[in-house]
Amino acid sequence: MIDVSALTVRFRTKTGHVDAVREASFHVGEGEVFGLVGESGSGKSTILRALSGLAPIASGHMKIGSHVLGEKVPRAFRRDVQMVFQDPYGSLHPRFTVDQTLREPLTINGIDRQDERIVDALGEVGLGPAYRFRYPHQLSGGQRQRVAIARALIVEPRVLLLDEPTSALDVSVQAEILNLLRRLHRERRLTMVLVSHNLAVVGFFCQRVAVMRNGEIVEQCDIASIRAQRVEHEYTRSLLIATGGYQREPSYASHSGANGGVTKR
Ligand SMILES: Nc1ncnc2c1ncn2[C@@H]1O[C@H](COP(=O)(O)OP(=O)(O)O)[C@@H](O)[C@H]1O
Ligand SMILES: [Mg+2]
Repeated sequence: MIDVSALTVRFRTKTGHVDAVREASFHVGEGEVFGLVGESGSGKSTILRALSGLAPIASGHMKIGSHVLGEKVPRAFRRDVQMVFQDPYGSLHPRFTVDQTLREPLTINGIDRQDERIVDALGEVGLGPAYRFRYPHQLSGGQRQRVAIARALIVEPRVLLLDEPTSALDVSVQAEILNLLRRLHRERRLTMVLVSHNLAVVGFFCQRVAVMRNGEIVEQCDIASIRAQRVEHEYTRSLLIATGGYQREPSYASHSGANGGVTKR
């Protein structure tokens, strides 16, 4: 579904340029959840921005589905690939009601039956119709992130890019949002790329992970290796230690109403 080969992203700066991503290559199969982990500034968000056609590509190739990413990004691509950001406060328009927020992408993409789709999308993210005419400041952080997820899903994308979707939330709310994302993945067979600095979050629902450092992918491994702490690269090991490893806690899972939970040790 996603093919990235030798991707280099170069930003111009006052003094010259910075290669935020260097020669990154990875592949994400259809319906797979792929994780990108690494410390702050390692280039994770830049890869997601490149995948959504929003970063200056110096060299390399990218393909999402049948779309080859180049200079111009076609409308159909914009609909197929949706992104959810870390900060639901910043990503929702403060003067738009939930209804307006969800209606906008439908109108842009010329999609019909808008009222019905808006009510359905709210239901899918666990918000009743009562939330439809609220403004962002009348919602909790978790509810705002649910609205941001509904906005991404309402155009029925094939790929969902998630940039630290739970990092700005309280720990209990983080688990709710992760469980919601996992349910949506199961139900819709979406292909997802999840960025996180937290290996526990990534271990919760990714199948494979790329570990980034200083703009480069230093290691790719399947999640079983992460869980077993069986990793090749010293840097990945230090990340594992920094995140306190990976652990599932059943009591937490029953509290959040799903069959898995995430916790830090
Ligand atoms: N628009 C930009 N102009 C210049 N440098 C940038 C820009 N965006 C990101 N960078 C730089 O690229 C590097 C990677 O950033 P980013 O992808 O945001 O990291 P991460 O998401 O892993 O924290 C950082 O050094 C950052 O300063
Ligand atoms: Mg980032």
